[in-house]
Amino acid sequence: MSEQRDEPIMVDRCVCFDVSFRRLKQLADERNADFDELQRTFGCGRGCGMCVPYIREMLRTGETVLPLRPEWNPSVTDSPAPK
Ligand code: FES
Repeated sequence: MSEQRDEPIMVDRCVCFDVSFRRLKQLADERNADFDELQRTFGCGRGCGMCVPYIREMLRTGETVLPLRPEWNPSVTDSPAPK
């Protein structure tokens, strides 16, 4: 019997560089930092790349805990989603 998950898997950090989206948002708010500056400062997105669309979504919405979106290609670091 397979187990079904009722709650979505949530994404709240760049796992490769162990930096939370909350920390990234804090820097973005303090310095008006964009994605490129966050990446230069923390390295986020330069590992597996899975976090890139989530960081862009965090910058767009201010949300620091986001539901897993399987449709966002985790292997493309410069994924255009989301805009
Ligand atoms: S989770 Fe951010 S680079 Fe891998």
